[in-house]
Amino acid sequence: MLPGVLTYVLTGVASGMGKATKDHLESDGHRVIGVDRQDAEVVADLSSPVGRRAAIEAVTSLSGGTLDGAAMFAGVVGATGRPGSALVSVNYFGAVELLEAFRPLLAAAGESAALVVSSNSVTIQPGWNLELLATCLTGDEQAARALADQEDSLQAYPATKAALARWVRRHAPSADWAGAGIRLNALAPGLVETPLVDETRADPVLGSLLEALPLPLGRGGRAEELAALAAFLLGPHGRFFCGSVILCDGGTEALLRPDDWPARWEL
Ligand code: NAI
Repeated sequence: MLPGVLTYVLTGVASGMGKATKDHLESDGHRVIGVDRQDAEVVADLSSPVGRRAAIEAVTSLSGGTLDGAAMFAGVVGATGRPGSALVSVNYFGAVELLEAFRPLLAAAGESAALVVSSNSVTIQPGWNLELLATCLTGDEQAARALADQEDSLQAYPATKAALARWVRRHAPSADWAGAGIRLNALAPGLVETPLVDETRADPVLGSLLEALPLPLGRGGRAEELAALAAFLLGPHGRFFCGSVILCDGGTEALLRPDDWPARWEL
């Protein structure tokens, strides 16, 4: 590998923010090992343990034993008729299981970064299931899937994304991550114009809810904007970020909950 050329693994590279981030990093001269169900260096289905294992083995082999960064973009959104279990397996276990397997490769780089993609739905969608968050964090995929299927997948979505953010905050400052030179963070985008949002707009139930979402900037985000932020967080200029959940939502959360941050620490 040429000096200055970093090697990253990204999931969800066939579309949206994952694709835009891959394009951004590659145009900066870096190497990206992409993982997706299609159009990727590693074609794998992250919804199943078998697919995840295949992805881990292929990436490990292609990496040559070292990774400078990893970003988990692959995700599915709540949709009418889609079971919540699909979200649990892809959004949470499809990210955490891969990152845990890539941790030694990231540690081998000396200085590296890892990123998951949470969502502002965690803080702007009221009433999602806290038990589902807690069950994801136990690592019991079957129990989390069963729980998620008891309600519609619109409710499961923020729970899976909150579990990711919580997993990041629990692990980032530990000896295994910060102590091994790996900066672990979560990106929390608001509405970003990607095929995922097109799908939600076309949904018979969710389409009208999305139309009601306030967008103070008068538009949704662009995949390229989030890609630039992700590239910064993954790269050498983002070295002081550790355990952060970085909200980038065009002002939606500030509009809906202006006084809810900072939350004073009550001991
Ligand atoms: P997208 O739908 O454009 O791209 C998602 C990618 O994940 C696709 O290439 C898809 O093939 C891949 N994927 C889905 N299931 C997979 C599976 N089982 N195995 C392998 N790959 C799979 O979506 P977008 O908008 O780029 O989303 C990226 C991430 O950002 C997702 O985790 C999403 O939940 C999150 N997000 C998106 C927001 C938005 O407004 N677009 C807002 C907040 C978070």
